[in-house]
Amino acid sequence: MSERPVILVTGGTRGIGRAICDDLASDHELIVGGTDPAAVAAACERYASARPFAADLTDADAVERAVDELGLERLDGLVHSAGLLGSGAFRDLSREDWRRTFEVNVFAVADLTRLALPALEEASGTVVVINSGSGLTANGPGGVYSASKFAARALTDAMREELRPAGIRVSSVHPGRVATDMQIELNDFEGREYDAENYLRPESVAGAVRAALTASPDANLDMVSVRPGPAATNRA
Ligand SMILES: NC(=O)c1ccc[n+]([C@@H]2O[C@H](COP(=O)([O-])OP(=O)(O)OC[C@H]3O[C@@H](n4cnc5c(N)ncnc54)[C@H](OP(=O)(O)O)[C@@H]3O)[C@@H](O)[C@H]2O)c1
Repeated sequence: MSERPVILVTGGTRGIGRAICDDLASDHELIVGGTDPAAVAAACERYASARPFAADLTDADAVERAVDELGLERLDGLVHSAGLLGSGAFRDLSREDWRRTFEVNVFAVADLTRLALPALEEASGTVVVINSGSGLTANGPGGVYSASKFAARALTDAMREELRPAGIRVSSVHPGRVATDMQIELNDFEGREYDAENYLRPESVAGAVRAALTASPDANLDMVSVRPGPAATNRA
């Protein structure tokens, strides 16, 4: 059996999740998550050692089946990077819109962590939830995203305390605006022209995730806020 730590990254096909996989690939066994089996398989081919985790996180049965199929004995890290923006002005959002965003950003985080608990416990693993600056302060419009990320922060805080006796660490990483497809979608909603140069690089968020996963065992990086540094061209 491999000596390398085993890490499951949801949303590993694109954006921040993909940068996290790229960063970890050199010294970890990856399990790459995404909705589309072909895209997940293609993502896995980028790495020397990676397995697919193809499931729509809004489908509880599919997630449970996919976890069973992995047959995990141990899981050293579970990184929840999959997320949904669900942008829209409050007056335009239906209950179904709210439900869809909460399904991915909150319910799936709780459910997948629960399903992975035996393997996480076996490895004294670390759970990392990619939250957002929007999980710290809410600036409308787009309240559904902020509300889901506030809920994810509460969930993360609660899991940290509940799982501490089981030897499992829980970190919350809060990036500012990052150059990904989600940012393109947000710029479109805001009626702004997208320029990747204006935003944090996904690789910068991956660095924070690595820090949380590899912190010495006596330490837990409870909350990491990743904001634009002096060299960045924007301050969002
Ligand atoms: N971009 C930003 O500015 C920013 C800032 C702060 C925080 N964040 C957070 O960072 C995380 C990653 O965002 P990103 O910018 O990398 O997003 P992205 O480029 O839009 O990618 C989203 C990822 O989530 C996966 N995903 C979405 N819905 C899913 C579902 N129902 N089931 C399974 N996977 C699903 C997608 O998989 P498919 O490829 O299969 O669709 C994709 O891999 C999110 O939690 C986001 O809220 C982003």
